[in-house]
Amino acid sequence: MEKLVIHGGNRLTGEMSVHGSKNSALPILAATALTGCESVIHNCPRLSDVDAAIDILKSLGCKVNRENDTVTVNSCCLENDEVPAPLMQKMRSSVIFMGAMLGRNGKAVLSAPGGCEIGLRPIDMHISAVKALGVSVTNEDGRLYFTAENGLKGAKITLPFPSVGATENVMLAACVAKGTTVLDNAAREPEITDLADFLNKCGARIYGAGDSTLIIKGVNRLHPAEHTVIPDRIAAASYLLCAAVTQGNILINEITPKHIAVLLPVLQEMGCIIKLSANSVRLVAPARLSRVEILRTMPYPGFPTDIQAPMTAALSVADGTSVMIENIFESRYKHISELLKLGANISVEGRMAVIRGVPYLSGALLRAPDLRGGFALITAALAARGESEITHIEHIYRGYEEPEHILESLGADIKRI
Ligand code: UD1
Repeated sequence: MEKLVIHGGNRLTGEMSVHGSKNSALPILAATALTGCESVIHNCPRLSDVDAAIDILKSLGCKVNRENDTVTVNSCCLENDEVPAPLMQKMRSSVIFMGAMLGRNGKAVLSAPGGCEIGLRPIDMHISAVKALGVSVTNEDGRLYFTAENGLKGAKITLPFPSVGATENVMLAACVAKGTTVLDNAAREPEITDLADFLNKCGARIYGAGDSTLIIKGVNRLHPAEHTVIPDRIAAASYLLCAAVTQGNILINEITPKHIAVLLPVLQEMGCIIKLSANSVRLVAPARLSRVEILRTMPYPGFPTDIQAPMTAALSVADGTSVMIENIFESRYKHISELLKLGANISVEGRMAVIRGVPYLSGALLRAPDLRGGFALITAALAARGESEITHIEHIYRGYEEPEHILESLGADIKRI
């Protein structure tokens, strides 16, 4: 089994850039199955979740070629309507292929999606939304059969919660439906805007991406397009937190600072100096971080649930007590029992974690519980005295491209063994 071995205490300094956004690349790759022609996607990160999306495209009959960070997908001849169960199991985002395949063929067959175990993660909103577009859904042999027998029809849909995945599925199916779809309480994440930008380059007519209401005017067909995936805001935030816990001074280039606008004042409150340019962020950390009174995870533009775990790790060595409230996923504190092994003082009650900062952490044997929780352990181990080993690191590589190389180049003592 592979593991990461980290000797903590090194100060991170230097410059880096982040890979393309995982959460953009996955729906955009699903969208390439909808177009029925050739799509060229640049800045596709080399992550196991992206490999899984490529495997799904191939299983559907698409021709896929990857050269470095550019993935070319030809979806002219789809052969299958079903995402194979082992590929569904690999990641939660496999569910996004439902909207793409419904738009393409009026049919899709899915089984239960896998992904991080951070809560119940039902797909009821996805199902209700596509039903409103004229899709019937049946459940047989553990599979969900989606069929738009009379074609997809635009509709007025209000999501009960701004679900990222449900918003993407509606966009994919509705952009080739007959008539106009109005989607209220849509997710507003930058990845939604990136998907809309790609689909619009293909000839879709999606208006309002980034706002709560999306207006999607159905078109008959889509055409070939080329697109560059946005930088990964979650990876950028994660590395800033690594610098913050190591008294570091790093510059992250080629990112979009406004995508992490909610994090920057929090880092300043923790005592970090932040310097911004149009496409870079520099962080200079203090000798010891200060606590933050209370942080609540919220849908974008609120504080991202995906940064909660690395932030919890950083606050575990801050001066004072901080409170974190996780509003998006009900079981997203699995990293905390691991942080306790390092000597952190954190108690969890329901959705609230009370983090009493300790002066230092000490190296320990750790197990990555999930993707972001796994990166939180890296963050904490970089700050800890002595050696830590992190196992089950496959979770981490679903969302971070070669983190050991990036961190080593900034001065960390980290090895993948
Ligand atoms: C996406 C992101 C993930 C991020 C999350 C929230 C991708 C690939 N993943 O996940 O990194 O943490 O947004 O920002 O983009 N829910 C339901 N029923 C549904 C759908 C969702 O109850 O049908 C609930 C979920 O269980 C969760 C909440 O809604 O509690 C938010 O989920 P959602 O926004 O859909 O997250 P994902 O799209 O799965």
